[in-house]
Amino acid sequence: MDTDRLLRELTEFLRIPSVSTNPSHSADCRAAAEWVAGELRRLGCRDVQFLASDTHPVVWGVGPEAPGAPTLLIYGHYDVQPPEPVDEWTTPPFQPTVRDGKLFARGAADDKGQVFCLLKAIEATGSRPPVNFRFLIEGEEEYGSRVLFELLRREPERTRADTVLIADMAYVAPRWPAVYTTLRGLCYAEISVRTAKSDLHSGEFGGAAPNAHEELARLLGRLKTPDGKIHIPGLYAPVRRPSKVELATWKRLPFKESEFLKHRVRAKALTGLKSHSVLERLWALPTFEIHGIMGGFTGDGAKTVIPAEATAKVSLRLVPDQKLKVVERQLAAAVQRLAPKYVQASVKFLHGADPATVQVTHPAFKLLDQAFREVVGRGTVPARAGGSIPVVPALGKGGAPVILTGIGLPDDRLHAPNEKLDLKQLWDGIRVFGRFYELLGTMDVS
Ligand code: BES
Ligand code: MN
Ligand code: MN
Repeated sequence: MDTDRLLRELTEFLRIPSVSTNPSHSADCRAAAEWVAGELRRLGCRDVQFLASDTHPVVWGVGPEAPGAPTLLIYGHYDVQPPEPVDEWTTPPFQPTVRDGKLFARGAADDKGQVFCLLKAIEATGSRPPVNFRFLIEGEEEYGSRVLFELLRREPERTRADTVLIADMAYVAPRWPAVYTTLRGLCYAEISVRTAKSDLHSGEFGGAAPNAHEELARLLGRLKTPDGKIHIPGLYAPVRRPSKVELATWKRLPFKESEFLKHRVRAKALTGLKSHSVLERLWALPTFEIHGIMGGFTGDGAKTVIPAEATAKVSLRLVPDQKLKVVERQLAAAVQRLAPKYVQASVKFLHGADPATVQVTHPAFKLLDQAFREVVGRGTVPARAGGSIPVVPALGKGGAPVILTGIGLPDDRLHAPNEKLDLKQLWDGIRVFGRFYELLGTMDVS
């Protein structure tokens, strides 16, 4: 494997600041899409297109025809999360740098490095594996995949395949590769409160006028109480507790709550529902998080004002069998119920996703297990994921098994400063997926 060349090529991809949520990076998103399209052409794809290209394009590719062989659809995303706070990066987010065998850059693990891994694994096998490759690499995953959703609704035949492969996750621990059986869904919203026509002098009116920030804080404090319980009527009703068998398998994973607190969370204590294990809280329970609160005076110096309006960006993570549409209604109703009569409260939904469940019994999972076993010495363990990939339910609609896996490690710092990918994981990953493609080529699809 020519690791020097591969590292140079990945560096080129990572240099492109393809931040999909920020319109000022539209041209960069397009450049990243071009980079992917160039790679697909080099792999000999017959058909490479930009679909839905009025926003960040979805890159579609159809590999060389392999008559009678299985069809594998590879999904991934070339967009990345904003790099802020940039000051906290040791080296700049879009100047990929290797330190101590790790490649630091925004997108190194999520998901450019992993898309790169899946693509380079095709050429790494030497002879081209007997697989009909299809590629769907989008540029809006990090803000809800709206365009791809609509595209798949119009053109569901794009997902027709024998297997779908996604590498956008991590091992559960070093040397412990995984396949994921669920993803959480997401319901992202802004909760606003208005308490008066305009801001008021806090001397003239303080003591008698309602304060929007105070009302919003109280409302948020009621939506989730210190015990970790979310007070949205009906929210927990469809939530199924994992089976005893599943909970027992989690106990055997190399996961220690105390280590998780000390090395990953790096806080003084863990929070949430104490009646449930930490893995259950991360993988099998809904969440309610506040991402930011806007309004009032936050500039330098002091200003004595009673704010008339305040807005919080919040999100809920959803678990099987919750439904996004239902949760949206439940949240909107709860906010109305919790707001006092003199407060005008509203909820605006920004984006969301249903949770996903995948059965890991299809023969293709055995082949991936074998590939990992041969290359890294351990097969895949079934686990659940706390994060979301919005289009996964849509990708599975055609009936093909969706393999959710990845080559990241739990300490890759996705979405955070100093995101990285261990190069050993990448080189192993290229061998693993190369082997997987070879094995898949032998799978009977008649
Ligand atoms: N790759 C992640 C999803 C992920 C992270 C799955 C960790 C499992 C473990 C993906 O790129 C992501 O960040 N998704 C967003 C989706 C959202 C913006 C709609 C997420 O989960 O916040
Ligand atoms: Mn991702
Ligand atoms: Mn992400």
